[in-house]
Amino acid sequence: MSRLKIIVGSTRETRAADLVLPWVVTRAVAHAGFDVEVLDLRDWPLPIFAEHIGTIGDFSNPTYSEPIVKAWNNKVKEADAFIFITPEYNHSLPGVLKNAIDSVFFSFAFRNKPIAAVGYSGGIGAGIRAVEHLAQVVIEGEGVPLRNTVLIPYVTTAFDESGEARDLAASVSLDVMLDDLAWWSHVLEVARASGELVPGSFRGRAALAAAQAAKAADSVESGVKAAQ
Ligand SMILES: Cc1cc2nc3c(=O)[nH]c(=O)nc-3n(C[C@H](O)[C@H](O)[C@H](O)COP(=O)(O)O)c2cc1C
Repeated sequence: MSRLKIIVGSTRETRAADLVLPWVVTRAVAHAGFDVEVLDLRDWPLPIFAEHIGTIGDFSNPTYSEPIVKAWNNKVKEADAFIFITPEYNHSLPGVLKNAIDSVFFSFAFRNKPIAAVGYSGGIGAGIRAVEHLAQVVIEGEGVPLRNTVLIPYVTTAFDESGEARDLAASVSLDVMLDDLAWWSHVLEVARASGELVPGSFRGRAALAAAQAAKAADSVESGVKAAQ
């Protein structure tokens, strides 16, 4: 069973996220294969990101600057798959959501896990720029953003009295996204279990240091030969 965490990216009072969240949760729970947990950032009042190598402490069990940052990293790490529910703020994701992603520092908790997105906005934009931007952000965390997303324009009138999306296209796109998420979650869980590479940034640094050392040794050797 894929452990799915649904992360809610708006925390303000009166948020429209509360229209979107129950719809997504109901459908995710109904979709066989997910063990669903909502991570509402209102319940995770993370400090503005302040981590550095000094706050990490023991690399195998990092301390972080505050206990809630450590708890957040551990919570994200539990997941096999994610759905981010994000509004669009100034053509991007809200700062509170970006901060929550930045706060997953050094635990690689998003690494090699699928990340789906539900975007919405008050106007015709439907959160598409936030969703596109989110994909760029999670790539750096080595998450795997999915192609199929859900976009909801005019969010305040997008749901009927029963909480269903009025737009059939939104409803269908949620089903497609959930099917993709379940597939990717399974495939990547198997892949992670078969062994993961050391993160590319570490491998690159080690390979570069080795190449530089080899080059330096070469030039010393050529200097010695030239002097003989
Ligand atoms: C700071 C801020 C910036 C916004 N920028 C955009 C935007 O760039 N594009 C857009 O379509 N809507 C924008 N909106 C409208 C939001 O999409 C709309 O208010 C939505 O309900 C926000 O989600 P929330 O109520 O769950 O926080 C913005 C709203 C806020 C508060």
